[in-house]
Amino acid sequence: MNAIAGYTFGTEQVTHSPLTLNDLELLKQTVLFTNEDERYLRLAGEVLEDQIDAVLDVWYGFVATNSHLAYYFSNAGQLNSDYLTAVRQRFAQWILDTCNRPYDRDWLNYQQEIGLRHTYAKKNQTDRVEATPHIGMRYMIAFIYPIAATIKPFLSNKGHSAEDVENMYQAWFKSITLQVTLWCAPYAKDAYF
Ligand code: HEM
Repeated sequence: MNAIAGYTFGTEQVTHSPLTLNDLELLKQTVLFTNEDERYLRLAGEVLEDQIDAVLDVWYGFVATNSHLAYYFSNAGQLNSDYLTAVRQRFAQWILDTCNRPYDRDWLNYQQEIGLRHTYAKKNQTDRVEATPHIGMRYMIAFIYPIAATIKPFLSNKGHSAEDVENMYQAWFKSITLQVTLWCAPYAKDAYF
């Protein structure tokens, strides 16, 4: 797992989240995330495991065909394909983490880290690239929908019942909403978050 460049989950290099585990619990309650969602995420993890490249092809295709999004992987109008490739491996790991990891202190800390990596504070540093230095918060939030909606066909590819697919999808949608909320912490003045 640690062979993925820049993937520092669980290490001392990861920023400490300013939130407590109780704060996390309240956010989970707010997005209606329950133990049952956790179980359906584990199932989603099994379903998605061997489809991750195909999922990422869809997401990367979406970014590539939207120049205002490709802009964040670019420098002076030139798309940096090394940067895209480096992030892709962490993205793949993130899909597995979303489904399989316990949402504990290490996980909470890595959410703060991922948030920072989208902002002026840390973007581009992990892969030592020169690219647009910050991703506007509005795109972080707006991205929740495509990241959620595009997963559904993949969840139904393994012959599960419509009900199971729907439950996996709802669990995924809640988790993405929860995570992007946590990623917005570095964007907000402390008391505003
Ligand atoms: C990094 C997911 C929004 C561009 C990442 C990583 C993940 C991720 C998992 C790698 C984290 C790591 O380093 O371990 C998501 C999700 C989003 C979102 C789930 C919203 C639902 C966006 C948007 C853009 C974007 C709107 C704009 C095109 C990037 C870039 C990096 C990155 C450029 C690399 C940052 C760096 O330099 O370290 N994202 N992202 N992301 N994402 Fe996002």
